[in-house]
This record gives sequence, C-alpha cells and structure tokens, in this order.
Amino acid sequence: MLRWGQAAMQVLGPMNRRTGENFPIAGELYAWCSSVSAGDLAPGSIGRGIFDSEARGDIPAGSAGHIIHQYLGAGVDTTIASIGNTVALFGRHPEQLKLVRDNPDLVPAAFAEVLRYWAPMHIWGRTATREVDIGGVTVPAGAQLGLLIGAGNHDPRHYENPDAFEVSRNPVDHLSFGYGPHGCAGQGLARLEGHAIIAALARRVKTMSVGNGERIPSNITRSFETLNVAAVEAA
Ligand code: HEM
Repeated sequence: MLRWGQAAMQVLGPMNRRTGENFPIAGELYAWCSSVSAGDLAPGSIGRGIFDSEARGDIPAGSAGHIIHQYLGAGVDTTIASIGNTVALFGRHPEQLKLVRDNPDLVPAAFAEVLRYWAPMHIWGRTATREVDIGGVTVPAGAQLGLLIGAGNHDPRHYENPDAFEVSRNPVDHLSFGYGPHGCAGQGLARLEGHAIIAALARRVKTMSVGNGERIPSNITRSFETLNVAAVEAA
C-alpha cells in the first residue's frame, strides 16, 4: 500500500520522468481496486463499509471499487506526509509542543497549523470552465491552473507573521484540504489521524530532537523519506 499510495500521487502533476515511472505502479493499485470484492475486506473496515453501502443501494452499483481507489490513492501518501511533517515541526519547535501539553484543547488547532505551515500537497490543479479575471490577470476558458497551496498558506496578506509556526493561531481556513465542493473528501479521517498523533506526542514525549531529514522528491507531495528522531519519554 505504501508503494501504491506514493505512486498514486506521483502520477499527478506535470508529465515528467517521475510521472512516467510511476504509472505502472499506480496501475497495480487501479487493477487491485477494479477486482476487489466485499469478501476480500475485513468486516467492519472502511472498505467493507463501502461495499455494504453499495449492497444497500446507497451508492450506484459497481462504484465501491472506484471509491476505494479514491480513498487509497488520495489518503495514504497525504496523511503520511502530514504525520512526518508533524514530528519534524514539533521536534524543531519544542516550546509549541509544550503549549499543547499544557493545554490539550489546542490539538485541533495544532494540526491545522501543521497543515498550513507545510502543506502535504503543495500544488493542485483546476481547469477554468470560463474566462475569468483573477487579480487583474485574464485566465482564458479551458486553461489549466496550478494552485500553489503552500504559497497561499503563507500569504502575508492573510496570515500575520506567516513563516512562524504557532499552534495557537488556529488557521481553520488553510488551503491544504483544497476548497469548495471538491475539497478533500477524507479530511475528517485525516484530522482523526493527525489529532491522535499530536495528542500522543504531547502526552508521551518530554523532549524530542530531530535531524534535518531527507525530503522525497515528489511532483505534488511534501514528505520525508527519512527523519532521525531522538525522544525522551515523559515520566
Ligand atoms: C492530511 C491529509 C490529506 C491532505 C492534505 C489532503 C489533501 C487533499 C486536497 C488538496 C484535495 C483536492 C481538493 C480540491 O480539489 O479542492 C483532496 C481531495 C481528495 N481527498 Fe484528500 N487529503 C488528505 C487525506 C485524505 C484521506 C485520508 C482521504 C480518504 C481516505 C482523502 C480522500 C480524498 C478524495 C476522495 C479527494 C477527491 C475529492 C473530490 O474531488 O471530490 N484525502 N485531498
């Protein structure tokens, strides 16, 4: 799943060598999702629940595999990136981890700030369905746009002191889950994971130091390939 999840993200974005090399791997994921059936999945799991919905007629017949593909393709590499970013940011900003430890109510705001500060997907796309004027620039109908989510999250016209990592900021309007009717469909699950990680770090880690880490060259995600962490457990 890790290999598939990473490839599903690498095939998005510009058609470069990385995109081409990852198509066959992303194809394996697509093939698996096209052939999976309810009996392959554990009762009570999210995937099985999607097949249960199909059996009840809540979603169109034959759509369960495609929805599972969306979930696996969109929900693996992104959350992994956000969790690595969480550990790295709190390792570099111990005073911010202490704020969360002293006030666990800050956990949701802290995850929002991690997502704002280092967008797990720093670029995403849109197609202009009609000619539109954006900030004095005319975008023609049919144009493909690259939305620089990471840059938007650091816009000084919107966020005061945007390059500071501050868990008390509570930037609920960050763009890391996209925007509008097609905003991230898995953001509830992503938050559940992110909040659990931050709450556990605040509760269980007394001090933590992290290395610089090595980023994975990627078309759209911002992940760590390796990150050395030394942590002292709280008493
Ligand atoms: C921190 C983790 C995550 C981040 C940063 C993230 C980010 C995004 C972004 C930027 C989009 C595009 C939204 C737009 O076009 O406006 C998106 C779409 C989507 N995400 Fe996520 N995502 C995350 C986790 C997940 C998870 C866990 C799942 C599912 C289990 C998921 C499923 C989806 C799906 C299905 C879409 C397509 C929605 C549509 O086009 O209607 N994502 N996500």
